[in-house]
Amino acid sequence: MTKKLVLLISGRGSNLQSILRACQTGGIPDTEIAAVISNRVEAPGLIVAQAASIPTEVTDHRAFPSRAGFDTALQQQIDRYAPDLVVLAGFMRQLTDTFVEHYPGRLVNIHPSLLPAFPGLHTHARAIAQGVCWHGASVHFVIPELDAGPVIIQAAVPVHKDDDPARLAARVLAAEHEIYPQALSAVLSGWCSLEEGRVRWSKPAPSCADTAINPVFTGPSSP
Ligand code: GRF
Repeated sequence: MTKKLVLLISGRGSNLQSILRACQTGGIPDTEIAAVISNRVEAPGLIVAQAASIPTEVTDHRAFPSRAGFDTALQQQIDRYAPDLVVLAGFMRQLTDTFVEHYPGRLVNIHPSLLPAFPGLHTHARAIAQGVCWHGASVHFVIPELDAGPVIIQAAVPVHKDDDPARLAARVLAAEHEIYPQALSAVLSGWCSLEEGRVRWSKPAPSCADTAINPVFTGPSSP
């Protein structure tokens, strides 16, 4: 039976696009995006979804006096589609514990850093300011603590000496578009699951080389 995703977005929707492409081309087999829900009516990702004839909905968080009220409405909207997985794809809202606990092992997020480094916002600028050599992205199961759930797949990218946040963000985003479909496919197929707070891989567990993207280190250029 075809599996169903509901995607939550707030903005551009480039991860939505990569997931959609994977659903259409077999990268995420036997799966459809049942709906895209945004908390911002002006999110460009809504147009991406509409162009692909995916149902879209908007629930503006500003219409709700409390975080809990918004999350309850959002949950009701999502559950009408009975999704196998709820996918946060650039959804810029913190979710209540009640919401998160309603989707045990069925709520995933992508965060633009190598978690547990740099949870929260402005990860690229912070990585540059800290002088780290490697930055990246993580797909993880969502738990009540922000940007802290068990990691499914990570991608590492080098930080170049002349990077600014925009250049580094573009490099990380390209990696995000590779790993998010891979992670969703692994979870939807049952290969990867959340058990007792940890990621469990059935069949032979993949090696790090299978669950991380590491560019080949070419060394510093010669003087
Ligand atoms: C991505 O960098 C994602 O990691 C973060 O928000 C951004 C969303 O980008 N959570 P897009 O809307 O998918 O283009």
